Amino acid sequence: MAPVDFVIKFGGSAITHKELPLTPNLEVIRRMALELSEGIKPGKRLVLIHGGGSFGHYEALKYLKDNQISDPLGIAAVRGSMLALTKIITDSFLATGLPVFAITPSSCIILEDGKFNCAKFFLEPVERCLDGGLIPMLGGDVVFDRSGSTRILSGDTLAQQLALNLDAGMLAFGTDVDGIMINGQLVHKVALEEIAKYSKMIGSRAGDVTGGMAGKVREIGNYLSKGGKHALIFNATKPLLLKKLLLGEKVEGTYIG
Ligand SMILES: Nc1ncnc2c1ncn2[C@@H]1O[C@H](COP(=O)(O)OP(=O)(O)O)[C@@H](O)[C@H]1O
Ligand SMILES: [Mg+2]
Repeated sequence: MAPVDFVIKFGGSAITHKELPLTPNLEVIRRMALELSEGIKPGKRLVLIHGGGSFGHYEALKYLKDNQISDPLGIAAVRGSMLALTKIITDSFLATGLPVFAITPSSCIILEDGKFNCAKFFLEPVERCLDGGLIPMLGGDVVFDRSGSTRILSGDTLAQQLALNLDAGMLAFGTDVDGIMINGQLVHKVALEEIAKYSKMIGSRAGDVTGGMAGKVREIGNYLSKGGKHALIFNATKPLLLKKLLLGEKVEGTYIG
């Protein structure tokens, strides 16, 4: 299969108001739709991921124990909240003329002992979308494990796995900060060997059940150590960065690798 040009993850901190339960940031979602429609060059292949923000994380926090959810109502509530967020994004993107096609991870991924790497991932719908000129979009989700447990699959993990499987030219994480910040300063570039050092210096964030910025940086480390090419963390709440990224221009953010 032809490689994809971009795997772009929209963080929940950008597309929702993370401190307000079940509240999308429609301004950011609409602007992203517009920048995507203006920035995607003909023939470019793009996969989108979205995080959970005040939808998935909010519900997961109520039910999550030892990284697992066992209450059937909790499992269904997390799925339902992510479905709602996916629908809001899909409607906004469709209204802008983007052929976005939402794919549900829990329906095509099975974990094994909590490890996404050992998972069964039926990737063909994503590939068919790309070949058909669609933009596949997947969100973080609650997924089943062969052991019988049910876990949260973070959008960050999903993004790096898809980028690896689809040989992405660029794996980009849009969030609500400019990139990795150390002592208030943006770190513009991190080499592969420096990732461990930086992830120790990065804090997490209340309300994020999947590791926050430190988790993101760890996922990028996994990605690059397995042959991933380029990764970037940028501020998706700042206008025009997404469009510039799609047009192949350098954007403000942390480039890793
Ligand atoms: N050193 C750091 N640099 C950047 N962000 C940090 C750092 N330490 C903690 N954070 C927090 O990580 C958040 C981004 O991670 P997260 O909330 O998981 O984003 P997303 O919703 O995109 O997954 C930032 O909003 C910030 O509050
Ligand atoms: Mg997060």
